[in-house]
Amino acid sequence: MTEIKISSHFDEKDILFINTVKGLLCDSRVKKMKSFTQHGNISTYDHCLMVCLYAYMYAKRLKLKIDPKALARGAMLHDFFLYDWHKQAFTPDGLHGFSHPVTAERNARNTFWLSKKERGIIINHMWPLTLTRIPTSTEAWLVCIADKYCSAKEALMKKPY
Ligand SMILES: [Fe+2]
Ligand SMILES: [Fe+2]
Repeated sequence: MTEIKISSHFDEKDILFINTVKGLLCDSRVKKMKSFTQHGNISTYDHCLMVCLYAYMYAKRLKLKIDPKALARGAMLHDFFLYDWHKQAFTPDGLHGFSHPVTAERNARNTFWLSKKERGIIINHMWPLTLTRIPTSTEAWLVCIADKYCSAKEALMKKPY
């Protein structure tokens, strides 16, 4: 009998990335993002997942040395602001576009233990809109770029994925 080894396509880092994403996708607190629309008909939960997958794909294509766990956690929580920004453009933290990384980082930090790198991925993902909050790690740059790409697709296309 031929044995199919699906796992042979994945290396150790891939497995760590997949397991970290899976764990977060099943978390009831992360699932709250399903209730909010990000762009078009895409929820914040799906947006974060797509940013996460694109950021990891960029890292693989460019053969970049990254921490897969930090990338997965930072990307999955980068928009963990937990409100409908279409109804609430102004928040106690300020104008949504500029302030939501601060809100998301605080919510994420209050919900999960986060490393300095993971906090940086979240808080700096809106650069260059947030002029002084510049990505400081490879993982943060990947999420920042993947976020722009996914946001544009979601805003402009009827079926972005
Ligand atoms: Fe964002
Ligand atoms: Fe985003």
